[in-house]
Order: sequence, then structure tokens, then C-alpha cells
Amino acid sequence: MHNDTDFSCFLPDEEATLALGARLALSVSPAMVIFLEGNLGAGKTTLSRGLLRGLGFAGRVKSPTYTLVEPYTVSNLYLYHFDLYRFNDASEWEDAGFRDYFNAESICLIEWADKAEGLLPVPDWIITLTPEHDGRLAHIQAFSEQGRTCLNRLYP
Ligand SMILES: Nc1ncnc2c1ncn2[C@@H]1O[C@H](COP(=O)(O)OP(=O)(O)OP(=O)(O)O)[C@@H](O)[C@H]1O
Ligand SMILES: [Mg+2]
Repeated sequence: MHNDTDFSCFLPDEEATLALGARLALSVSPAMVIFLEGNLGAGKTTLSRGLLRGLGFAGRVKSPTYTLVEPYTVSNLYLYHFDLYRFNDASEWEDAGFRDYFNAESICLIEWADKAEGLLPVPDWIITLTPEHDGRLAHIQAFSEQGRTCLNRLYP
């Protein structure tokens, strides 16, 4: 299913999640803020790994669970992968300088964005992963003009 603001597809296995991530790498652009929603183990980090691989990052992509953010530099852009599951103090946001991570040269992927409610900008996309049968249902929603433009690039 897809239109201007919504895209969804079924991901039967981990490989399919990585492949969708790689496909997203061809659509995303700098300054994007992407929330990754879904329960523990939904596949958010797997999708981020696929996206980074698709962008050309050859190293290890580990979950930012303990560090809150993992920074990457790929080609000529910055990608910040957040996992805010353990985040619980708004002042930590300022102290860590996270605000500066959101800029025109960077893409921000955020797992557990609801933990920092009110501190984050409005996302360009929200990607939701939901368990279905043995796989996952992926749903991408665009919330900005840039988000819609990038979503349209997903289609052949
Ligand atoms: N489409 C899929 N079908 C079945 N299993 C999948 C699929 N995509 C990913 N997985 C599996 O789901 C598991 C959890 O993935 P991942 O760590 O990416 O989840 P997460 O959403 O980031 O979890 P957390 O909230 O704990 O960070 C992994 O073992 C991965 O192989
Ligand atoms: Mg994760």
C-alpha cells in the first residue's frame, strides 16, 4: 500500500528488514528526523543497520541502548542513531548537547522517541514495525513536505 503520505509492506524475515533499510538509503536526505516505533525486539535497530549499510557504512552497527546515541559519518553526511529507552531526564538532553545533532547536514534516527517527548522536533517520517505472523509489518508515515518528497522516491 502506498500514497503520498503512507507506505507499508510486509517483512517476512530479518533479511527483508535489512533490505527495506537499504532501500530507504536511496530515499532519505540530510536534515531528516525519523522516529522508529515498535516494541522491544520489533526490528528498529535491524532497519537502522540496513539503512546504514545501504548508505555505504561497512562497520559494525550496534544498538545505542547504553550510549543513547551512536554517531556515524557516511559519504558526506552525518547519521545519528538514538535509542532513548534509558533516557529519563530532560536536563541530560541539554548536557549531552543532543540538540546540536539535529541540523541540516544530519539524519537522525530515533528509537523510543516518546521518552524524550517535547524535546524532539516533529519527525519527517514515523516508521512503525509491528509483529505479524513470523515477520513484521512496516508502516512509514510522512509528516512534512520533505518527508513526502522522500517517501515518493521509494517508488520505482
Ligand atoms: N522482519 C523480521 N521478521 C522476523 N524477525 C525479524 C525481522 N526483522 C528483525 N527481526 C529480528 O528481530 C530481533 C530484534 O531486532 P532489533 O534489535 O532490531 O529490535 P529493536 O526494535 O531495535 O529492539 P529494541 O527496542 O530492544 O532496541 C532480531 O533478532 C532480528 O533478527
Ligand atoms: Mg533497538
